[in-house]
Amino acid sequence: MITYVSPDDMQAAANRARSEGRRIAVVPTMGALHRGHLALVREARSQGDVVITTIFVNPTQFGPAEDFDRYPRSLQHDSKLAEEAGTDILFAPAAEAIYPPQYQTYVTVRDVSARLEGALRPDHFRGVVTVVAKLVNLTKPHAAVFGQKDVQQVAVIRRMLRDLNFDIRLIVVPTVREPDGLALSSRNVYLSSSQRKEAPVLFASLRRAESMIRSGVRSRQAIHDAVQETIAGGSSAVIDYVSIADAETFDELEEFRSGASVVVSLAARFGSTRLIDNICITV
Ligand code: PAJ
Repeated sequence: MITYVSPDDMQAAANRARSEGRRIAVVPTMGALHRGHLALVREARSQGDVVITTIFVNPTQFGPAEDFDRYPRSLQHDSKLAEEAGTDILFAPAAEAIYPPQYQTYVTVRDVSARLEGALRPDHFRGVVTVVAKLVNLTKPHAAVFGQKDVQQVAVIRRMLRDLNFDIRLIVVPTVREPDGLALSSRNVYLSSSQRKEAPVLFASLRRAESMIRSGVRSRQAIHDAVQETIAGGSSAVIDYVSIADAETFDELEEFRSGASVVVSLAARFGSTRLIDNICITV
């Protein structure tokens, strides 16, 4: 595995690989790699001749009161994990290399970015799509791999890639979970042991929503209430939102048309640790 920190070096290497006719698959991450990220790297390995993993804690997607400064950083350990999972090139630029002082340009996706995570975290998705567009221009991939865990992020990136005519295949990998159902997240390390014991209630509540929908329940309110009750009954978590939405637009669904892709998603806080999870159901 070779590591680049310079955007110019990264781009030159990507251009060389392309000119040799090799297929490139990229996995953008913010590091603190866990088995979820590594599943993406393995998927990229099966899709491309050259696997590029990027590690960049992107300042523009964090709000002023968010955890940018205390976001876990562990480049040495991450390099080892990324290499073991099949990375050929690790791209780990410094913030100033990606956003030099004269930097002015941002990409915004409307509508789908404004809902849920975007409503609670203004400018979050602007930062995400801007950095993804830049990483794509630097790594020149044929395919880019993302996790279902951040389902709205996938919808926003998909919209951006389509709207701006990026010629890239977007690959989505299912959420990797702990045996008790908790979705792996770099933020799980912040949970106290009692919060950690309660946290699987999130996935349990989504499973309950899924089984209701599959058994024919079509009342949005009933599904919403069941998710809320399950979380409140099994934890001290504070719920930010529970959403039952269209998988592409993230418009809240009032009714379920047959064949529709429905995403039940939620965000909840255990103390100051905010967790998100979701489940996708084709009805
Ligand atoms: P990060 O949170 O590091 O996640 C990197 C990728 O790993 C994302 O595509 C995310 O959905 C995926 N991922 C995280 N946990 C997962 C899990 N338990 N199972 C499967 N996939 C999982 O998402 C970001 O970084 C950033 O917003 C980024 C896209 C890199 C832009 O800065």
